Amino acid sequence: MKYTTLGPTGTEVSKLCFGTWRFGHVSDGVVETDETQAHALLDEAEALGINFIDTANRYGDPPGTSEQYIGNWLEERAREDFVLASKVGMTVDDGSGRNRDGLSRKHIRWQIDETLERLGTDYLDLYYIHRLDGQTPLLETLRTLDQLVEEGKVNHIGASTMAAWELTELLWTCDAHGLESIEIVQPPVDATLQNWQRYDRLDLRRYLEVCEKHGLGVVAYSPLAGGFLTGKYERDTDAPQDSRAALDPSNFERKYLSDRSWDVLDSVRAVADDLDATPAQVALTWVLEQDAFPGGMLPVSGARTREQLSENAEAVELDITDDQIRRIDDARGQPLLGNAS
Ligand SMILES: NC(=O)c1ccc[n+]([C@@H]2O[C@H](COP(=O)([O-])OP(=O)(O)OC[C@H]3O[C@@H](n4cnc5c(N)ncnc54)[C@H](OP(=O)(O)O)[C@@H]3O)[C@@H](O)[C@H]2O)c1
Repeated sequence: MKYTTLGPTGTEVSKLCFGTWRFGHVSDGVVETDETQAHALLDEAEALGINFIDTANRYGDPPGTSEQYIGNWLEERAREDFVLASKVGMTVDDGSGRNRDGLSRKHIRWQIDETLERLGTDYLDLYYIHRLDGQTPLLETLRTLDQLVEEGKVNHIGASTMAAWELTELLWTCDAHGLESIEIVQPPVDATLQNWQRYDRLDLRRYLEVCEKHGLGVVAYSPLAGGFLTGKYERDTDAPQDSRAALDPSNFERKYLSDRSWDVLDSVRAVADDLDATPAQVALTWVLEQDAFPGGMLPVSGARTREQLSENAEAVELDITDDQIRRIDDARGQPLLGNAS
């Protein structure tokens, strides 16, 4: 494994972050990753040298299941060996209750304690705003997060998917009020993803420009496009049994499938052949090569099996040329950052 800093902070993290969204996640009545499987995956991550683990209070069914699985696993380990990130803002029930989501002081203060208890720790390394709620005054949210840092419950503050102007507003509000600022962001980034696609508020290129200008660390989520870029799917062929596309077809199709995505996959496959690597490794390396940010751009990737995870971890060792990156960018239509060549 290779290591870098968590964005502009002094904390050292593995270049691959392990994402645990699918721990305890029920798709079509099936638990994708149960606790035994989750612990086997965390064992594998530890063996591979991955020390950076991503979760959220929302993950799992019921919400909190992912954090609970991780907390149970951590009981027999040294907390200081891991960098734990979690998130707040999404609903933690069926959406019908009051104050069960969002970024109010009330909700955040309740949820940080729930998260810490489930994870069995007294602090988080990184606490993200999962989504803005469009209701709570930013100052209320940012003052609450600032207090959590002051109290030692959180080391660093992050923000996930939002518009570029919203991210800028958060940064300026922190600055204007002398509050602990956002240091890390977590947008979706994969080689198929284009501006505005998937989330109508997210102008990804403008968002990343804000990150570059303000020196924010970038953790790229779903870097394999939910598994699409691993090469396990074929045009006009049924998805493999047990794959995410088979378990959740309409969501998978809406998020990841388009003619251009198939073209990008073709180019990723061709580069993988050249490098004697796998498409998943090339797709992750393409993310790792977007290095305009402090600490580089770090993929937060999921895995269902130990084999997938160890295959993916090898991406950090892959040497890819500028020309190979350009071939993928040509299939995308443009590079992720800067001007098309
Ligand atoms: N901030 C946010 O709003 C947000 C949103 C989404 C995700 N995230 C974070 O990002 C993490 C990753 O998201 P994701 O799971 O969508 O990411 P992903 O890395 O794009 O996709 C992971 C999925 O691809 C398949 N896969 C992975 N490696 C493979 C391999 N080598 N060969 C074949 N198949 C492979 C597995 O699915 P199957 O085997 O089931 O097909 C796996 O669950 C999440 O766990 C979460 O921590 C954050």
